[in-house]
Amino acid sequence: MKERVITFGTFDVFHVGHLRILERARKFGNYLMVGVSTDALNFSKKGRIPFYNQDERMEIISALSCVDEVFLEESLELKRHYINIYKADVLVMGDDWAGKFDEFKDICSVIYLPRTPSISTTAVIEKIRIP
Ligand code: CTP
Repeated sequence: MKERVITFGTFDVFHVGHLRILERARKFGNYLMVGVSTDALNFSKKGRIPFYNQDERMEIISALSCVDEVFLEESLELKRHYINIYKADVLVMGDDWAGKFDEFKDICSVIYLPRTPSISTTAVIEKIRIP
């Protein structure tokens, strides 16, 4: 049977930590769906407008060979709805969210994967910012 995996994130200024979590997530099934945070959601969540807009971020994620389907995540409160409508069997998140999505264990498996150390969008932006 086809195992459908779902994950969520902003994926701004795409970096190797993003690539690795998506490749690892895909291995928990054979169909990977990625909810990309809208610009508005990112602003409310992180207080920052992403460097790449939501259409550009979706385009980049869609082009990856490990990704089968991409959609916009409009609200953090809609996770259960997205898991249901995309018929996900497995929810994969980075361990920065450890424990936060255990409430969905009634409808799918919930797996937290370790983050790739020493890299984040925030760190990349800080590093390349001209002083
Ligand atoms: N991620 C990861 N390893 C990293 C950075 C991110 O595995 N070094 C994972 C996160 O755990 C999440 C997904 O990639 O599941 C998307 O994370 P996102 O918040 O978009 O990226 P960050 O680099 O953490 O962004 P920021 O610095 O803005 O928080």
